[in-house]
Amino acid sequence: MILTNLLASLIAFSSITVQAGPAPSWWNKNKKTPIIIDMDADTDDIIAVVQALNTPTLDVRGLSVSGIGWGHGSQGQTLADIADYFQPYSRIPVAIGPCQSLTDVKYGNGSLYQNSVPSGAGNLLDSDLMFGLVQRLPRTQRQWRNASDPGLVEDHLKTWIDKTIKETGKKPTVLMSGMGTDVALLFRKYPDYAKKVERLVWMGGAVDVPGNLFSVPSNTKAEFNMYLDCVAGQEIFANPNVSVTLVPLDFTNQIVLDKSLFEALAKKWSFAAKFVHDLLQLQATATTSYGSYENFFQQYSLWDPQALGVLQNIGVTSFETNVRIRQQCGSFPDPNTDGALFRLPSSAVAANVTIAKKAAVSAQAAQNPILAALINAL
Ligand SMILES: *[C@@H]1O[C@H](CO)[C@@H](O)[C@H](O)[C@H]1NC(C)=O
Ligand SMILES: *[C@@H]1O[C@H](CO)[C@@H](O)[C@H](O)[C@H]1NC(C)=O
Ligand SMILES: *[C@@H]1O[C@H](CO)[C@@H](O)[C@H](O)[C@H]1NC(C)=O
Ligand SMILES: *[C@@H]1O[C@H](CO)[C@@H](O)[C@H](O)[C@H]1NC(C)=O
Repeated sequence: MILTNLLASLIAFSSITVQAGPAPSWWNKNKKTPIIIDMDADTDDIIAVVQALNTPTLDVRGLSVSGIGWGHGSQGQTLADIADYFQPYSRIPVAIGPCQSLTDVKYGNGSLYQNSVPSGAGNLLDSDLMFGLVQRLPRTQRQWRNASDPGLVEDHLKTWIDKTIKETGKKPTVLMSGMGTDVALLFRKYPDYAKKVERLVWMGGAVDVPGNLFSVPSNTKAEFNMYLDCVAGQEIFANPNVSVTLVPLDFTNQIVLDKSLFEALAKKWSFAAKFVHDLLQLQATATTSYGSYENFFQQYSLWDPQALGVLQNIGVTSFETNVRIRQQCGSFPDPNTDGALFRLPSSAVAANVTIAKKAAVSAQAAQNPILAALINAL
């Protein structure tokens, strides 16, 4: 017992050595694409973050997590821990968004939309704890948030965009793997910033396929990221200054997480691969909505790592360009239709949307280019 405690404290103590130092010699920011990741920090968002931090062609400039959706503000600590474990020399800033969606604020109907996230073990209760794996990350010593002076998420995003442009001469791309809340707040307060972002690569929506609201079965058209904050999505799609690359369910449904990816991860020795493997295994056993462990691998999709692949131009065989979209969100709440996407004529004054349509598909998930990029990064 004493020996176990001693060992535990040694491991805990060794994590204190995760500190800022000089970047390694291969680290050359000039050759990289600067990105900001805004998310709701559920399992697949976290996997995309770990992948991005381990992808040599990407320069992660900031991580923001909304206070709504599956994961919440406390995931800010997880993100700081992950960022400082993989890139202690980068001191990547982390910020937290509001804990009510713009939709729930507008309608004043309590947490009507947030309530679509099932509560309890395997869902709401476990996403913030990463199904118990959060304790495996060494805790960073960096104070990334000061509650007396936390700043608004839109001000943090603005600062990160300015710093990126100043330091790299490039506009950042924003990978949105959750709701539109934080980005909509940015554009509300700073309308000029829609043009200071290279593009938004947004995992979300269902264009020509059914939605995925398993907890709101009466709504057959919406996808969760759009449904959870339809006001935010409506504003973003209506903004003619914005360029969006949409990675909807139409695309992500084509690539399921089959066992081959899981087995490929099990063969890798890195901390990142083991972490992602165990996270998926815990999610598969804890999430009862898939019916069985086997079903999980046939139905779960790595939605956000797929969007990161699209951002890097990996794994897409066809895009539809110059699309204009309207997101349904009326003047009173209608859970049956809110969050649905509709095409507008291409002459409509709205965001310039490019839709990732067809994915490169292979029988073995591990051989699929988009998932192979994930395995190779870890
Ligand atoms: C929203 O709140 C209003 C006022 O309380 C109520 O009339 C309406 O039925 C609510 N809508 C939903 C979808 O719950
Ligand atoms: C937190 O912010 C407040 C207000 O800016 C400042 O006075 C205080 O020193 C900060 N605390 C820490 C621990 O940095
Ligand atoms: C588009 O950008 C211009 C300036 O860059 C700004 O004045 C305008 O308000 C923006 N439009 C919207 C809808 O935000
Ligand atoms: C819309 O985006 C596409 C793809 O990036 C681009 O080729 C096209 O020129 C854009 N259209 C307008 C009107 O900006």
